[in-house]
Amino acid sequence: MTWYEIFPTISTSLIAISAILVAIGWRLIIVGKRNAHEKTMLVAAVAALLFFIIYVSRTIFIGNTTWGGPESLKTVYQVFLIFHIVLATVAAVFGLTTLTLAFRQNFGKHRKWGRVTSVVWFITAITGITVYVLLYLMYPGGHTKPVIDAIFG
Ligand code: HEM
Repeated sequence: MTWYEIFPTISTSLIAISAILVAIGWRLIIVGKRNAHEKTMLVAAVAALLFFIIYVSRTIFIGNTTWGGPESLKTVYQVFLIFHIVLATVAAVFGLTTLTLAFRQNFGKHRKWGRVTSVVWFITAITGITVYVLLYLMYPGGHTKPVIDAIFG
């Protein structure tokens, strides 16, 4: 595995771990384990933050990977990638809102936001893993480019 593949593999694993922790954390609050819910969700947030730091560093220092698969699938892939990026951004904003509401002890609102945040995060993780599978497992060989070129190039 080269350096170009190590970073995406680590960051994709972090998204998966974070989503699994959110599912566990949700389950914990349903069964009334408040402390365990808090700790699990905080670790999930740290995993998401680490993902973000690795993703941004890689984008700045190495660049993003362009589509290496068939031309006929390129547009579908680009639409899917943009959908994933938009979802990830929404998940980040909702995640911060959900955490802020919890720390302000506004649990009524936290509960409503938390449900939406968790579902958005699950979809972000699934679409992120799909992008990884397409780019590095099914159709490897795309070159790295600065982020804007990788999306629209
Ligand atoms: C981004 C991180 C978090 C997410 C995604 C999240 C998600 C959720 C969800 C989905 C529920 C509703 C469960 C249900 O009724 O179906 C919930 C409830 C709750 N959460 Fe969180 N949570 C997070 C962080 C925290 C933290 C840090 C605390 C503690 C400071 C906390 C305390 C609570 C409490 C007390 C409830 C129960 C509220 C009620 O039933 O009125 N949560 N959370």
